[in-house]
Amino acid sequence: MEKFFALTIFILLTSCGFDKGMGPLNFSANIEQPVRAEEVNFAILQKRVLTKCIGCHKDWTSEEIVNRFTRESDPEHSRLFTTIAKGEMPKNARHLSAIDMEIVRNYIQNIPWTAPVEEPLPDDGKPVSFSTLNEKVFQISCLPCHGRTLKEEATLVKKWIDPNDPEKSKLLLSVTSGKMPKERNLLTPNQTELIRRYLRNFR
Ligand code: HEC
Ligand code: HEC
Repeated sequence: MEKFFALTIFILLTSCGFDKGMGPLNFSANIEQPVRAEEVNFAILQKRVLTKCIGCHKDWTSEEIVNRFTRESDPEHSRLFTTIAKGEMPKNARHLSAIDMEIVRNYIQNIPWTAPVEEPLPDDGKPVSFSTLNEKVFQISCLPCHGRTLKEEATLVKKWIDPNDPEKSKLLLSVTSGKMPKERNLLTPNQTELIRRYLRNFR
């Protein structure tokens, strides 16, 4: 009889996921356990914070996309942190808790700088078109903040390009100075090179 009991309990445990390494005494997946700052990674960010963002930011499904709003190891210059610290995000909802904010801060702090993997550019050095620049730079790094300036080439040229001295154009200087894109990943070397090649149209 005792043996039968033990067997039943064993079967119950197994059917509860015991066999998947989720032993009945391991509740850590369910309780709010403190996480050490240096352990905060994308999985923790996703589980603890991004669930409160994904309803509107539907494309925030990968680390690569979310990191467009960060500068490595620099929370104070990362939209992901500054927008929640100022209470601008989540939009029209309660501010994040102090713990959630700390998770975001630590997550950004822990992003190491790694050289981006880029497709090689054609080595002909030829000028590139507005539409190429739009696809590879503006859409990824400058919109929606500069939607009005960047919607059409004519406005861009009028506002940010100096045809007499293209290399001194606001478009390029804003980026090489590290000011733009504001509170986001700095442009990759290839993105900056595309801006230089675009400016060759004005020589
Ligand atoms: C109810 C919808 C909504 C929710 C929820 C929301 N956002 Fe946003 N978020 C927006 C909208 C709309 C914009 C773009 C325009 C603006 O800034 O108002 C935006 C913009 C942003 C930007 C700036 C993007 C840029 O281009 O610079 C960041 C960063 C951001 N949100 C972070 C967050 C974070 C982090 C959360 C979750 C904690 C969150 N948002 C939750 C609607 C939302
Ligand atoms: C999150 C919003 C945001 C993003 C993304 C962003 N900018 Fe800006 N940008 C601003 C704001 C705000 C200003 C106004 C000055 C300031 O606050 O520094 C500005 C100013 C500028 C100026 C100076 C305009 C002037 O008349 O002097 C240039 C040029 C510029 N941005 C280029 C860019 C380029 C190029 C990108 C993309 C590679 C970019 N920005 C991405 C918000 C942004």
